[in-house]
Amino acid sequence: MNTQWPELGELPAGWTRKHLLGLEELSREELEIILDKAQFFRDAFDRGCRKFSLLSGHTCVTLFFENSTRTRTSFTLAAQRLGASCVAFTASTSSLSKGETVIDTAKNIEAMGCESMVVRHSTPGIPQLLCEHVNCSIINAGDGPHEHPTQGLLDILTMRQRLGDLHGKTVALIGDIAHSRTARSNIWGLQKLGAHVIVCGPSTLVAADWEKMGVEYSYSLDAILPRVDVLNLLRIQFERQYTRPFPSVREYALLYGMTGERLRRAKPDILILAPGPINRGVEVTPDVADGPQSAILEQVSNGLAVRMAVLWLTEGGRKIDN
Ligand code: NCD
Repeated sequence: MNTQWPELGELPAGWTRKHLLGLEELSREELEIILDKAQFFRDAFDRGCRKFSLLSGHTCVTLFFENSTRTRTSFTLAAQRLGASCVAFTASTSSLSKGETVIDTAKNIEAMGCESMVVRHSTPGIPQLLCEHVNCSIINAGDGPHEHPTQGLLDILTMRQRLGDLHGKTVALIGDIAHSRTARSNIWGLQKLGAHVIVCGPSTLVAADWEKMGVEYSYSLDAILPRVDVLNLLRIQFERQYTRPFPSVREYALLYGMTGERLRRAKPDILILAPGPINRGVEVTPDVADGPQSAILEQVSNGLAVRMAVLWLTEGGRKIDN
């Protein structure tokens, strides 16, 4: 392993944020700063450079009140690769079950000394609320159906690597738009970079009022397929729904599942993405998920780079009193 690290450069003048709560609040310039720094870490990683000492002495806590595989692991690895230490808080084994509030939990963790808190919660706005009660950097790792900024960024980074400038490109988000924080972060980020966004799914999960966000909406994957450059296949968020949004999963898969047969009717160089976890045979068939158009695992590698960039930028953006 090459532990020698190349020059990262100064903190960009356009970056002053201590927290990352969502892509809605970011300017195009701020988005590009994160994407460029993430690309730097990705390139360094590809050259075998996996250990930096940029955040040595810092502590990051992952405060997750919802399950996670990719997001938590990659934030943990990202912190470690920057030289920080990282501690995991898990809601199910904590004093929350003894009646402690989320705010008290966060304050107690901060009292042990931590510079970054990566927060996932099923209630929209919890990361924002914590910003008002603790002094460390807060990074939103998904707040209910609201936003999942680092997922949006890693999706966009993967598109940018494959397609170059996203201006004028057509990106379709397929499936459970209504309950997807990934969809919202994609929409905010992609539109700022000039992409055309289509949201597509059953009418119970895609409403016409999404047009207010400036996106096109469609109920037919087959109708939009020939003009799409990127398909981002979203999981049905059953855990956020009280009623079944369609008669059966089989019917959903027939209408909205991306299959090898549909791929033949798409642009030859269409890019297939999915935030994961994927349900094989529902939103995507295995031949497509594992095929040459798919960049699903590439997204996961880019996620690590994005999270390194976000941890570094939000730490660098604050004044640390020694
Ligand atoms: C997404 C999430 O948690 O919002 N997954 C992820 O972070 N990789 C999408 C999902 O759970 O379907």
